[in-house]
Amino acid sequence: MVPQKEIPKNLQKILNLVRDSEISSIKNVVSGILKIINDPQSTAKELKELIEVDPPLTAQVLKVANSAYYCPPSKIGEILKAILWVGFEAIKEMALHQKVCRIFSDDKATDGYSRLSLWKHSVAVAVMGKMIYRREFGEKGENIYAAGLLHDIGLIVVDQFCHEQFSEILKKSAEEETEFTETEKLTFGFDHAELGKAVMSAWDMPEELCSAIGQHHNPDPASSRFKRMTCTLYLADTLCQEKKIGHVDNRNHNKGLFNRCMRESGVERRGLDLIIQDVQEQITRMEEQGLLG
Ligand SMILES: [Fe+2]
Ligand SMILES: [Fe+2]
Repeated sequence: MVPQKEIPKNLQKILNLVRDSEISSIKNVVSGILKIINDPQSTAKELKELIEVDPPLTAQVLKVANSAYYCPPSKIGEILKAILWVGFEAIKEMALHQKVCRIFSDDKATDGYSRLSLWKHSVAVAVMGKMIYRREFGEKGENIYAAGLLHDIGLIVVDQFCHEQFSEILKKSAEEETEFTETEKLTFGFDHAELGKAVMSAWDMPEELCSAIGQHHNPDPASSRFKRMTCTLYLADTLCQEKKIGHVDNRNHNKGLFNRCMRESGVERRGLDLIIQDVQEQITRMEEQGLLG
């Protein structure tokens, strides 16, 4: 559990609502998948046990394993075979993707925002974060994919439990071209990044992931232990918004902060430009395969 400052009353009230809501239905499977991702000794059998108790997830994994993309020589009807055919890494990601996407499924659009556009944005940030870790750092980046998928969970929560204020904030920041997070702070006393971190901490998610989500609009104060993931998340989030892939919650690109994050994480603009092109292509492919709503 991440050590917390005292939680303000209105934030605690929202956390209680989240605890009793459909949003929390993803908590156990997501934390189970993250435990497997973070344990190098984990096996395909453990992943299978986690998937098979969840019928919609089982159906999805089998559907993908039997799709034209993976083209098995004969029909696959067992989860363990699906994991071996598609690959351990890909199935872990797919399971995370399928669980998290459930909370983005309600698609009432409000003032340029919809959960589907937020989902597209979140997947793009997850894919970009993973590519930065693999290509630039030569690492798998255990938690970055989940951090990308969940980084804006605070937006889902305010949309659901403070819908009127959320619509007003969207309207105000669009009309006055103000920073979205600043308007949130003026309204609630906290922004969706802090709220997202509080939800993740309440769910006992890995500390690195909680920290990166909490600082995804403001990576400067992140602790040195979590700096690289926080900066990577910031870079991925900013570039996906610059390319207008899905929802945009930050119109004002802070060049100084962007450059600091590149320096802190040791990546160069040229590498990022190549990666964002690949992200755009992958997102288009996923849309064509019907994986984004
Ligand atoms: Fe955000
Ligand atoms: Fe974002």
